[in-house]
Amino acid sequence: MNDASSSAPKAALTVDVRENGVAVITYDVPGATMNTLRKDFVEEFGAVFDGIAKNDAVRAAVLISGKKDSFIAGADIDMLSEIHGVETAETMCHEGHAAIAKLAKSTKPIVAAIHGAALGGGFEVALACQGRILSHSRKTMLGLPEVKLGLLPGLSGLQRLAMLTSVQVALDFGLTGKNMRPKKALKLGVADDVVPRPILEKVAIAYALSLANGKKREKKSRIDRDELMQFALEKNPVGRSVLFKKARETLDKKTGGHYPSPYRIVDVLETYAQSGFEKSQAVEARAFAELLDSDVSSNLMGLFFATTAMKKDTGVDDETIEPRTIDKVGVLGAGLMGAGITSVSIDKGIEVRLKDRDAASVGRGIKYVCGILDTKVKRRHMTKPERAEVLGRLSTTVDYSGMKKVELVIEAVFEDLDLKRTVLKDVEGSCAPGVIFASNTSSIPISKIAEASDKPENVVGMHYFSPVHKMPLLEVIRTEHTAPEVVATAVQIGKRQGKTVIVVRDGVGFYTSRILGPYMNEASYMLSEGIKVDDLDRAMTKFGWPVGPMTLADEVGLDVAAHIGPIMVAEFGERMTPPPTVGSLVEDGRKGRKNEKGFYLYGKAAKKRGKGKHVDETVYAALKLATPDYKTSPIPIEEIQERCNLQFINEALHCWGEGLLRSPRDGDIGAIFGLGFPPYLGGPFRHVDVLGASHVLGRIEYYQERFGARWAPAPALADMAKAGTRFYD
Ligand code: NAI
Repeated sequence: MNDASSSAPKAALTVDVRENGVAVITYDVPGATMNTLRKDFVEEFGAVFDGIAKNDAVRAAVLISGKKDSFIAGADIDMLSEIHGVETAETMCHEGHAAIAKLAKSTKPIVAAIHGAALGGGFEVALACQGRILSHSRKTMLGLPEVKLGLLPGLSGLQRLAMLTSVQVALDFGLTGKNMRPKKALKLGVADDVVPRPILEKVAIAYALSLANGKKREKKSRIDRDELMQFALEKNPVGRSVLFKKARETLDKKTGGHYPSPYRIVDVLETYAQSGFEKSQAVEARAFAELLDSDVSSNLMGLFFATTAMKKDTGVDDETIEPRTIDKVGVLGAGLMGAGITSVSIDKGIEVRLKDRDAASVGRGIKYVCGILDTKVKRRHMTKPERAEVLGRLSTTVDYSGMKKVELVIEAVFEDLDLKRTVLKDVEGSCAPGVIFASNTSSIPISKIAEASDKPENVVGMHYFSPVHKMPLLEVIRTEHTAPEVVATAVQIGKRQGKTVIVVRDGVGFYTSRILGPYMNEASYMLSEGIKVDDLDRAMTKFGWPVGPMTLADEVGLDVAAHIGPIMVAEFGERMTPPPTVGSLVEDGRKGRKNEKGFYLYGKAAKKRGKGKHVDETVYAALKLATPDYKTSPIPIEEIQERCNLQFINEALHCWGEGLLRSPRDGDIGAIFGLGFPPYLGGPFRHVDVLGASHVLGRIEYYQERFGARWAPAPALADMAKAGTRFYD
């Protein structure tokens, strides 16, 4: 036995040379639950693999992880965020290339034995090995997710994946950052074998030895017809240039040009295909360094750090507060939201008792839940026995039977204050004493509902977003009476349901609905100034919003917006006043997508007009406006974007100034995960930091002069501009 790391007690790599001449190299970062590539990986990998090359007793090697469920989960992102300056990052990247080359060029075969996540740098290390054996496990996944942080793979993983498979496959995995499961890896020829975990090391050792004995690595890639076409495309220069041109065009459509990293990924692979591996490494190092130095990457990393920190946040400032243990949840209302909440709960191991008024409504709820699970089975994210197990956690009722032991009830009945108060009283009378009552209301202040309660300390808001199984945010709302322990319990349940949770203080519209108000109103004002519905939407999607304000209004429901509008005006005054025309939409029977009558055409009328979305041209008359007829928009696109965004940001700053939020971080996460604020900007608060508070204030004052009171700047913004402060360091 030979321990190459004995002189460095804190080394992550240890080497054990077996009698058969195979060195088993174990990567196990001390003190961490998960393996990542640390700053010193270049020296450590360099030293160990130099040692392997020189050691005559070693014929082959296996690289394996010492952690339970991670091979190497990627580069240490803290370390990346501390690198400053393009030159430093470029040098670091070149050093990484040199260290990885020791594996890639090793004359002694090195086989990666992978169980758990091999992501980013971890996958790149594995790709540089001469073979890869994977465990047959749900935990095992490969991938190059750097694009999600605004970066690109910096250890030539793109090119090595292209070598093993095709440029097309490397583009696909590099640009989406999606995971590659063992079965797919085997099909693509990335994995040499997939075996049960207990024999992973043994099989990898045997495979390494066989390679050392001269066995050639089989190319297992079994490609289908479409992929064959792609290969044909890649094989000649004209085909290749078509491939890259198409990739860039798709990116223009998908990202609006706001995210530089996917374009740089295309550059790297194009250089690799046209000019070879070495030249592509130079392009890669420069691109990596420039991306790491960019605002977009720092914003996206900020989001990563925020969501990581939020996983550990209990939602209350007092660290001694413990959440209650909840095994069973009651859900009232099996409609769109209730069924959605049920599905994410049972899926994550929480038992649910679902209640609605009658069997038919319960039936609709069950159908909805089954639909979600069926899709998971179809997409192979769940097996049929797992589906049965998940459904086994659901029971239903049309009265309060079976609710005696329920410790938390989430209500999602109709949006009606009296009804919410009635069910609250029913719950307090029927469930366990001390039961927590959580309301999923989208607009009623929680304290108003809690007025009906004998124990307002147990009443809290849990505001989910539709569709619940897809939307990542949960907004927990605390009233002045809600007990911290109840807040912490709601947060913990939300996290168990897979949500990112922010906690906000109670008030009309909470945080998310409130900041959307002035944004939507501003779009409506521009509509009454003569801008076309689709031009408004296009302007905002071009800026990076997932949908435009008019589409969003149709989705949320024009009746819902019309209902909330006056409540907002009553609470916040003039700055929430919509243009006078908006009310006429509901009078015209337009509720949006739900009744297929809104700003856009739906159903048969839409189909008649062919592919894509079509504005319902009769909407202008319903708004008592002339149908716009212009070639050049009377309001420039930049102004449309700025006016909507500034209203959104200004309201977020009002919320901050009023103490609604616990931190700017929560405000940024709520805006991005709940409403779709463009992630590349890092959230409204980060965006103010980048633009500068005085610049933002100046622009708002400019519009205030043009349009009056609805543009009054938030006091917190004026204070920050005066003091020259920022939200983030
Ligand atoms: P929905 O109309 O689809 O479902 C409401 C359900 O409640 C119906 O199945 C109805 O039969 C049931 N119900 C009525 N009275 C009941 C009672 N006494 N006991 C048990 N069930 C009863 O409505 P949706 O869209 O699911 O909304 C529910 C709540 O969630 C509302 O407060 C809404 O404001 C809120 N919300 C809705 C969002 C959305 O996008 N739809 C987003 C966030 C919150």
